[in-house]
This record gives sequence, C-alpha cells and structure tokens, in this order.
Amino acid sequence: MTDRYAVFGHPIGHSKSPRIHALFATQTGQNLSYTAHDVPAENFDHALDAFFASGGKGINCTVPLKELAHGRADILSERAERAKAVNTLAVDEDGRLYGDNTDGVGLLRDLTVNLGLALQNRRILLLGAGGASRGILQPLLAEQPERLFVANRTVEKAIQLAGEFDDLGPVTGVGFDALSGRQFDLILNATAASLSGDLPPLPAGVLAPGGVCYDLAYGNQPTAFVRWGQEHGAARSVDGLGMLVEQAAEAFYLWRKLRPETGPVIALLDRERSLAA
Ligand code: ATR
Repeated sequence: MTDRYAVFGHPIGHSKSPRIHALFATQTGQNLSYTAHDVPAENFDHALDAFFASGGKGINCTVPLKELAHGRADILSERAERAKAVNTLAVDEDGRLYGDNTDGVGLLRDLTVNLGLALQNRRILLLGAGGASRGILQPLLAEQPERLFVANRTVEKAIQLAGEFDDLGPVTGVGFDALSGRQFDLILNATAASLSGDLPPLPAGVLAPGGVCYDLAYGNQPTAFVRWGQEHGAARSVDGLGMLVEQAAEAFYLWRKLRPETGPVIALLDRERSLAA
C-alpha cells in the first residue's frame, strides 16, 4: 500500500512541495504519494476529515491554513504551540492528530548549515509581524543573537509579537522609522510585501558591512527584497528556497523517520528555476 500525503493551501497551483517530496521519496526508497490540494479556509475542516478518513497519513498546511491546522491538532509539539501555527500534521496509531511546525527549524538549517552563518551575538532584523514571523522567532532567539528587532508597518503588532517571545531572549518590536541610525548583520524579510513586488521602507545604511539578506519568500526571479540586498552591498542576498526544502525534510522525517539529503534537492530546484526564468 502506498502511503498518502498532501499539501493543503489556497492558492496552491505553484507549490513545489509535491516535487520536493517525490525527490525525497526516490532518494530514500520510500513508497509514498504526495499531492497538492486547493483548500480555501472555509473547506479546511471537511477536506482534512475526508483525507484522514480515507487513510491519508499526513498533510502539510500552508497559507492561509496554518492557524486552523493548529486548532485541529489533538497534540502539539512545543514549537507549534509557541508559533500558534501548524504546517505539518501526522496521524498516530490511535488516530490522533499530531501538529508540528517545521518552518523555524527549516529556516535555521538553511541559515546555519547551508549558508554557514553563525547567529550568536549578531544583530538581527526581522521584517513583518504576521504568521511567518511568529513561526521563526523561537529558533532565532535560541541562537542567542545580540538583539533581535521585529519591525512592522503596524507598530502595535510588532510590539505585541515581541512581548510574546521576550522570555526567550532580547527582542524588541518597532516601526520602520525606528530603524534609522541602526545596523544589522542579518535582515530577514517575513512580510507579504515581496509577493506583490513591494518592499518594506528600509532606511539606507541599515545593513551592516558584510551583512546578509534573506527573504522567506521565493520565486523563479529574485524577489524585490533579494534585489534590495544585492543593491545595498549584502555579502549574500538569498530567497527562501533552501528554507522550503529544509522544512519539507523535517516534515518528511516526522512522517517517515528518515532524513533525506537536502543539498542535491536544493541544487536541482535552483537549476530548474534558472532554466524557467
Ligand atoms: P503571514 O502569515 O504570511 O505572515 P500576515 O499575517 O497577513 O501574513 O502578515 C503579513 C505581514 O506582511 C504583516 O507584517 C504586514 O504588515 P501589517 O501588519 O502592517 O499589515 C506585512 N506587509 C504586507 N504588505 C506589506 C507592505 N506592502 N509593506 C510592508 N509590510 C507589509
């Protein structure tokens, strides 16, 4: 019997997850299928129940379903509880749903292993205070940066989010205007601005010499933020393709208890999108 997995989201047409999991399955010799399902929020409960009732083993959830998936889990990992969002669900032997969030660990693996960055004592700036930021604050603070600023267009949301995590390390919520005169070694873009080709209003000089820019979004073309980094002298300015593959690998591990090699998969997807661009 082929074990069935899926990703739910809306929109879902351009998801690379089926391709990534198919590559993992081939690499590790696993017999499984992984399909993409267009599931708007109002259909989520029904789609989830139907998938597991028909014997499905696990799902990934993406925008706009991560908070709803958090609400449906019977058991939560500690990191999913902190993030208040679930991107991976697995059914256990007793039929209970286990909810995890692999986004943060995926980002951290891309930053520290694939890009070789050390975050300890670094000044980190996180742009945006929505769900994407919430999912990565715990693992970022665990790296013991000197300070982490969360900057958001709606300042109150940045302050509120920083307040939820300030037991874990030095984190401050600010508006974009408070960034003038400050410098950061790593700037992470977790706003939805990139998707519409927009940029958060960043003051010149906010990126320290030798600093790195990282966009959690990705595309076949460099995002607006990746281009901003290139134009402002970033030592590296990259998008979230590596994070996408790493969070998938962590979900695969949860489901199959096997760790796929991510390097060749990232390299292959990177080559494919260069050809598509
Ligand atoms: P997600 O779950 O993907 O993080 P979200 O919760 O809607 O999505 O949050 C989107 C984030 O992108 C927010 O931080 C939002 O800022 P506001 O809280 O002020 O709305 C930010 N954002 C979206 N468009 C933006 C833009 N054009 N410039 C700057 N920030 C933007």
